[in-house]
Amino acid sequence: MQKPILILGACGQIGTELTMELRAKHGAETVIASDIREGSESLMDSGPFELLDATNYEAIEDVVMHYEIDEVYLMAAMLSATAEKFPMRAWNLNMNSLFNVLNLAKERKIGKIFWPSSIAVFGPNTPTENTPQNTIMEPSTVYGISKLSGERWCEYYHEKFGVDVRSVRYPGLISWKTMPGGGTTDYAVEIYHKALEDGTYDCFLKPNTRLPMMYMDDAIRATINLMEVEPKKLSIRSSYNLGSMSFSPSEMAESIKQHLPNFEVGYTPDFRQQIADSWPSSIDDSVAKTDWGWQPQFDLDNTTKAMLGNLGPKKE
Ligand SMILES: NC(=O)c1ccc[n+]([C@@H]2O[C@H](COP(=O)([O-])OP(=O)(O)OC[C@H]3O[C@@H](n4cnc5c(N)ncnc54)[C@H](O)[C@@H]3O)[C@@H](O)[C@H]2O)c1
Repeated sequence: MQKPILILGACGQIGTELTMELRAKHGAETVIASDIREGSESLMDSGPFELLDATNYEAIEDVVMHYEIDEVYLMAAMLSATAEKFPMRAWNLNMNSLFNVLNLAKERKIGKIFWPSSIAVFGPNTPTENTPQNTIMEPSTVYGISKLSGERWCEYYHEKFGVDVRSVRYPGLISWKTMPGGGTTDYAVEIYHKALEDGTYDCFLKPNTRLPMMYMDDAIRATINLMEVEPKKLSIRSSYNLGSMSFSPSEMAESIKQHLPNFEVGYTPDFRQQIADSWPSSIDDSVAKTDWGWQPQFDLDNTTKAMLGNLGPKKE
């Protein structure tokens, strides 16, 4: 039987869908959602919720003890674009929340942790095509620096203290249930909303900026699969490369035009262009495939169909 799970940052883009999926799988009462704010109505109505600050160790410890939590998914963070505006707040949130859960596991108050890293751990000197699991990592953003530091601490806590922490480097995530929270790949969600609402979109990246992306269903499946794998199969305790598809804004626009032929896209790159230029265009995730059988299911055209189908006018 699944022991109780706590999700920190459950009301965000990933946390919302992760909470719903884990509740469908293990039962609503087994999955405690928490955040510093309330989430969508469907999330709030679907099971237990605690207002909880992931930077407050004692508050997390109280909730862990109260519900006899065994697994923690730490989804609270400040994302790439917002972190460039508030560097110290981003560093404090991203690092202190991670230390809190790592230390709870070190003290054997929880058994297992999921903590997401990002393709932002790579930098301008990293090979951009088919970026390997192990390669040059010199991130040039506050967010990337916090994620790379987090990866090193995860591996350290595993090696020194036997902490069972698991992680993937998510690419940009595309979903329709919750809006993204201030990342550099947010255009890939906004574009569908604008295509349906206005028939036009002004993209903040250049037309040919190719980045690794993933549909949310694949990301949630990867996360849950990784958490269910026997520990001995895991050769990486920093964070696994995770790939699915890569495309540019102009390729995404073309895929939308297959369904909405009059859709028009303009391009006004802003500060996020520089962040995107420092990231890989495609990811080699062969280690995740070998170790725990990772296989993506959604390509760009499937993603477009799913996004427009779910966001568009409902047919009777
Ligand atoms: N969405 C992506 O494309 C993407 C890509 C790579 C990695 N990630 C990583 O995945 C994780 C989740 O990302 P997301 O897209 O769901 O982010 P999000 O911004 O949508 O959600 C983060 C949630 O954390 C909450 N939060 C903020 N400060 C908090 C605090 N002190 N205590 C508790 N909760 C707090 C916010 O209210 C929000 O609901 C993050 O670690 C992020 O870096 C996301």
